[in-house]
Amino acid sequence: MDSVVVLFILLLRPGLRWTAAAEDMSWTYTGLVGQSQWSEHFPECGGSSQSPVDVVTTQTKYDPGLPPLTPLGYSQHGNRPFTLYNNGHTAVIELPDWMSLDGLPWLFSAVQMHLHWGSGGPSYGGSEHTINGQSAEAELHVVHYNSELYPNMSAAMTQRDGLAVLGILIVTGEETNPAFNNIINYLSRVRHANQKVFIPAFDVQSLLPKDLDRYYRYNGSLTTPPCFQSVIWTLFHERVQISKAQLLKMETILYSSKADEADRMLLQDNYRATQPLNHRAVFTSFAAGEVTAIVIGVMCGCVGLAVIVRFIVKTIRSTSSWDVLTNNRAAPMQRMKEPEKAKEKQQEMALNCTSQAERREERSSPPSEP
Ligand SMILES: *[C@@H]1O[C@H](CO)[C@@H](O)[C@H](O)[C@H]1NC(C)=O
Ligand SMILES: *[C@@H]1O[C@H](CO)[C@@H](O)[C@H](O)[C@H]1NC(C)=O
Repeated sequence: MDSVVVLFILLLRPGLRWTAAAEDMSWTYTGLVGQSQWSEHFPECGGSSQSPVDVVTTQTKYDPGLPPLTPLGYSQHGNRPFTLYNNGHTAVIELPDWMSLDGLPWLFSAVQMHLHWGSGGPSYGGSEHTINGQSAEAELHVVHYNSELYPNMSAAMTQRDGLAVLGILIVTGEETNPAFNNIINYLSRVRHANQKVFIPAFDVQSLLPKDLDRYYRYNGSLTTPPCFQSVIWTLFHERVQISKAQLLKMETILYSSKADEADRMLLQDNYRATQPLNHRAVFTSFAAGEVTAIVIGVMCGCVGLAVIVRFIVKTIRSTSSWDVLTNNRAAPMQRMKEPEKAKEKQQEMALNCTSQAERREERSSPPSEP
């Protein structure tokens, strides 16, 4: 659907306008206004460049022009606390605008970060993006807007190239990830929707994987209504690890219901199903089959070298001029075992027979060897 049509539909709907209505309209992951109904209320959710997607690694394209991403000011949180907020769909941490991202065609300033998770503990899914059909247990999104072209987040979020989101896949292991405790330890203070607290600021870069050079890149959308197709996605190849206990806390502490609501609803499975790629390309900043390529390359090299060596040996054996040289080098010949020596002699004789003419020529010319 093109954006003019979308705008027309939005204007026709009574009381439904870009941001105000989008924020007010209640939606959920399952139920009455669940994922499959989102597009009835938020037309862009039915668009052709939606997120998340399944990254099929064999169908990605290596783009050597994709530079390493550099977070700027992520570690300089200053003394101002962060705001942690339960918006009924996830836990959001608002980020100061001096945090930004270098390595994209424009400068992008940080706005907020939030998490997506499942409900079944480890290996039951929870991430939004999947790799070759495989889910991770959770996913962190760090949202930025294009501060070079637009004055603020709300102006940027409807524009193509308006947003840049970092996606970090989270898996579980044995070890506690202390960086994630900067968030998880405070979730109990925002158990209900609309609750907000200040938390101590911390180094946001410590939440990211170490390797920021290897990532997947594609054009997509917000993964929640109104699903604007304005996001340059960066999904890191390296996944970060938290403990099973940390995941369990994340999955079981928050409610999607407000404090005054009678029916408490656990905030779980807040991830959207993967969306069709529809001919979009997913680029990689790294050569996916690098190791395989090197192995194959070395093997081809070895075979090639063997062929060349064989050719040279054959050439030596079928010409006689080299024979003169080997005859002059007496020392190495003596080290040979007797049967080998005999064999060599026979070969020499055979070669000598075929090259009498050349020999004569050689003798008549001045000796080239001392
Ligand atoms: C964002 O920028 C637009 C355009 O300059 C302005 O009209 C709007 O009030 C701004 N919104 C906020 C939330 O600052
Ligand atoms: C995203 O879309 C823009 C504008 O159409 C295009 O220039 C860019 O190459 C696309 N990026 C990717 C990763 O497909």
